[in-house]
Amino acid sequence: MIVFNITWSEERVREFLQKENLSYQNIEMPYGLSTGGDDRSSTCKKILPDDLTGKTVLDIGCKFGYFCIEAIKRGARKVVGIDFDPENIRKARMIADCLGMPITYELFDIETDRIQEKYDYVLCLNVLHHLKDPIAVLDRLIEATYENLILEVASLGPRDRKRLKISLFTSMLLKHLPVLFISGNGRSSQFRDHKFFITQSAIRRLLMNHQNMFASVNIEPTEFKDRFIAIAAKRRIGKLLVVAGPIACGKTTLIRKLQNNELPEVAGCLNVDDFSSWRTVNARRFDELTDPVIDKLILYYDIKRPFFKNTKVYERDVALDILKNAAAVSFLTLWTPPDILIEQLDKKEQDKSRDGRSTGKKYQKLRKAYQDFEKIRTIYSDWIEFCQKQSAKHIVVSVTDGVRISTDENWKQLVMEQ
Ligand SMILES: C[S@@+](CC[C@H](N)C(=O)[O-])C[C@H]1O[C@@H](n2cnc3c(N)ncnc32)[C@H](O)[C@@H]1O
Repeated sequence: MIVFNITWSEERVREFLQKENLSYQNIEMPYGLSTGGDDRSSTCKKILPDDLTGKTVLDIGCKFGYFCIEAIKRGARKVVGIDFDPENIRKARMIADCLGMPITYELFDIETDRIQEKYDYVLCLNVLHHLKDPIAVLDRLIEATYENLILEVASLGPRDRKRLKISLFTSMLLKHLPVLFISGNGRSSQFRDHKFFITQSAIRRLLMNHQNMFASVNIEPTEFKDRFIAIAAKRRIGKLLVVAGPIACGKTTLIRKLQNNELPEVAGCLNVDDFSSWRTVNARRFDELTDPVIDKLILYYDIKRPFFKNTKVYERDVALDILKNAAAVSFLTLWTPPDILIEQLDKKEQDKSRDGRSTGKKYQKLRKAYQDFEKIRTIYSDWIEFCQKQSAKHIVVSVTDGVRISTDENWKQLVMEQ
């Protein structure tokens, strides 16, 4: 444990504790004194590892800074506590000064101010359910998190149930559903206003299903009744290659050849020496990707996906959220002419029917779409436009008549050649 330089005299600490009302989170002060308030040490053990050397931590709604102090004690490189109450910030700064700890406290409203950088750990404990728009804030927290996002949230307890005049049966039912329960008058007790009560499965769905940036969400009880902690581990990908094209264009074969290092000219264009250790994930199977840290990953992406999913634009496709988790992204778009697409689609369907897995209507619809050359070109063109906006390396490859590689700017030339 790191020892800090205490500059305050015992008399000054005693005077400070007497004068200020600091009783919220029990903070250990020098000379065997403390602020009084709730003991949050068991929550702290659950959410912060013993060693935070080199890590950065942001505590949103930090109150007097208990969790910031604990992060600094564990060796965090940078700790920032934010709160919209000037009194909290004033007191938190005085406590940090007394303890000689380098913590930055800022007056900040999480609903209106923007977090400017990413932190390894983002804590938001007992704040979300007080906010006007918790989902919008959650998005900001996700963006600000590099490693772990930790939330402590109020769910509907027996006292709240009675106050809100909800029957026992309804509350039991709600507890098991993914619900953001909107409190009628915004008050759950004399002192605290809860605008929402949020169930565990609601948090899980918001973090795991509405977007694709977390590898896992662990839910734990806390020392407060009817509250829970969610510890969400963000996916961190080193290098990501998106291999894209419509269904039946040959992505699976191309990826297999890349992983067998059979396409050195393509690998060379992507500045990769060896693809054999790269993992693969299909955009439909992110649930298989439970490791938070993945060094090298190939994403298998169907460029018609947003149209099947009704999201319509690539920017809204949750599968592409993963681009934000990667340190370096490159794109490989596989161009396959419509006649070959139809041939490969028919073969795929025949194989599926043989296995009793016919796709019927979807296959017919796709086959009809592939008969329209202009439509195919538009889909490719929209996708390539999206890739260009990502400012990442992008190549367009054709393998139907030998291997041809083109940059995204002159991909149309490649199309005309075939
Ligand atoms: C219930 S306390 C929780 C304190 C601490 N996180 C904990 O769990 O011990 C909520 C804290 O969030 C702060 N807060 C509430 N709304 C906020 C907002 N919009 N922006 C920043 N801080 C906020 C309050 O001032 C208060 O300090």
